[in-house]
Amino acid sequence: MLGWQTLYQTCLECKRCPLGQNRNNMVFGEGNLQADLMFIGEAPGRDEDMTGHPFVGRAGQLLDKALLALELTRQEHYYITNICKCRPQNNRVPLEEEAQLCLPFLRNQFALIKPRIIVCLGATAMKYVIDREARISKIRGQWRECKGVHMMATFHPAALLRDENKKRVFWEDLKQVKHKYVELTGEK
Ligand code: URA
Repeated sequence: MLGWQTLYQTCLECKRCPLGQNRNNMVFGEGNLQADLMFIGEAPGRDEDMTGHPFVGRAGQLLDKALLALELTRQEHYYITNICKCRPQNNRVPLEEEAQLCLPFLRNQFALIKPRIIVCLGATAMKYVIDREARISKIRGQWRECKGVHMMATFHPAALLRDENKKRVFWEDLKQVKHKYVELTGEK
C-alpha cells in the first residue's frame, strides 16, 4: 500500500491506459482523509478535467447542495473520488479495461481512509464496488455490509439532471446515509 504522496504521484504519472494521455488534469479525489464516509463516482467530466477537482460541475454542485442540507461537507465529513481518475472523451462510460487499470488506486485510497460507509454514485461505481450484475434501479437505497463496511448505491447526480423524477428517491437515499453516519459515528 502506498502512502498519500506516493499514491498521488503515481496517479499523476500514470499512462497505463489512453485516458492518461488525453486528459488535462488527473482528478485524484478530495475531502477528509480520515472520513468515515466515502463517495465514489464514475470518472471526471469536463469541469473536473479542467480543474483537477472531483464533482465540481453541475452534477457535483447538486450533490454538494443536497449533502450540505444534511450538514455533511467534504472538508469535514466525507471523501469523494471516482472509479477512473482521468476523463473519458465525450464523457463516455469507462471501458472495463480502463476501470480495472485504475481500480488499484481506489483500493489504495480506501485502505488509507478506512471509511465505514461507502456510497456508490451511479451504475459504474456500483458495478465495480458492490455488484457486477445488479441493476442500479433495483438495488439503490439498499445497504450491504462487508467486513464492517456499509455500502449503498444511489443514482448518479447527473441522472437527476436528466430526469427530475429521480430526485425524490435520491434524497431519501442520502437521508439514509446521514442516518447510518449518525448511527455509526455517534456524531450529529
Ligand atoms: N461525474 C463523476 O462521476 N465524477 C465526477 O467527478 C464528475 C462527474
